[in-house]
Amino acid sequence: MLAVDGGTPVRTTPFPKRALFGEQERNAAVALFDQAVETGDAIGYNGPEETAYEQEFSEWHGGGMADLVNSGTSALYVALGGLELAPAGEVVVPPITDPGGVMPVALHNLVPVPADASPGTFNAGAAQIADVLTPHTRAIVVAHIAGEPADMRPILDLAKEKNLPVVEDCAQAHGARYHGQLVGTMGDVAAYSTMSGKHHATGPQGGVVFTTDEDLGWRCRRFSDRGKPFGLQGRSNVRAGLNLNGSDLAATVGRVQLRKLDSIIAGRRRVAAQIASGLVSCEGLQIGHEPEGAESVYWFLRVHFDDPRFSCDKSEFTAALAAEGIPVTASYRHLPAEAEWFRERKVFPPSDYPWGLPEYGGDRGATFECAHAVAAVESHFTLPIHEQWTQDDGDDVVSALVKVADAFRI
Ligand SMILES: Cc1ncc(COP(=O)(O)O)c(C=O)c1O
Repeated sequence: MLAVDGGTPVRTTPFPKRALFGEQERNAAVALFDQAVETGDAIGYNGPEETAYEQEFSEWHGGGMADLVNSGTSALYVALGGLELAPAGEVVVPPITDPGGVMPVALHNLVPVPADASPGTFNAGAAQIADVLTPHTRAIVVAHIAGEPADMRPILDLAKEKNLPVVEDCAQAHGARYHGQLVGTMGDVAAYSTMSGKHHATGPQGGVVFTTDEDLGWRCRRFSDRGKPFGLQGRSNVRAGLNLNGSDLAATVGRVQLRKLDSIIAGRRRVAAQIASGLVSCEGLQIGHEPEGAESVYWFLRVHFDDPRFSCDKSEFTAALAAEGIPVTASYRHLPAEAEWFRERKVFPPSDYPWGLPEYGGDRGATFECAHAVAAVESHFTLPIHEQWTQDDGDDVVSALVKVADAFRI
């Protein structure tokens, strides 16, 4: 009997916590404080720890330039700032993403234009991006949501053909690969979030801007620190910008975390593979479709719910799953176009800029259907898997999924 009907739940003990920060992170932070106490020098930024973290982050990606900043939102803001896109244009944004993956576009006085998702996925596809390009488009932001790489080859071909820069939002996808290539190394510049929920973290909040284009790397670096003339000789502040710096304290934590990243990724892949194989013969449920060549890192796991196969709807199904003791999110519904700030154009109130900028020659309504994206969020639920889950944890999830599916299957 299902637990929701009074039966015994599959799982009665809590799932393991992630325990992301441990002794090593604490020791690294304490060592910095010890040094500060001993020498009288405050812990700063752009010092040896931050420089080392940025170098190690770049090396982990096979070389490039990294700039540690204070959040993933800032990282995207800086990446766009480094590209020096003329305002009053448009930037294509993901159909499903965190607000921090879209607001920076609008804050640059550029109109965010969501492209729909590739059918059956949470990520934009080339065809959907092509549909929203106009003569006003200045760049394309592609997010790898849930740690699943977007289908980049056709997107990169399109961007090249249209001569548009590509910004990869890797906030949820540290270390994911596409046809063998790491995400973050395919576009012109990449933005990472390293807040404490992500694959690897630089503390409670953080972000990294990464690029293999050195000139762009310097422009980003200047823009993230009030236009300081980094990489230039004898000049004053060269551009207006905010202070979005990371710090040596964040970096020292990040350095320890970076050393754990490979095993974090391997752990998530192990759990995802276990659940995927456990669902192979469970009709009506399957792991979300990934593009060919994808090696995902599963920030969460998408499970496709084939509604016509069941006598209940998805919310009833996930409620039954939760009653079995399984952590589940019924819907990852984060469509920028559905948010109040977007619909009501509240970026620079009381104006409706960037949409209302006199120089903006485009014509964008406030509604974007994104029918595939809506269909995708409505037909998937998500499991908050992580690398600390054991074989037994995975087994319990599979048992509960199969139990609930068997009970509701028509
Ligand atoms: C895809 C995506 N982009 C951007 C962000 C913003 O990052 P942060 O929360 O570090 O500002 C997030 C945060 O989760 C995200 O998931």
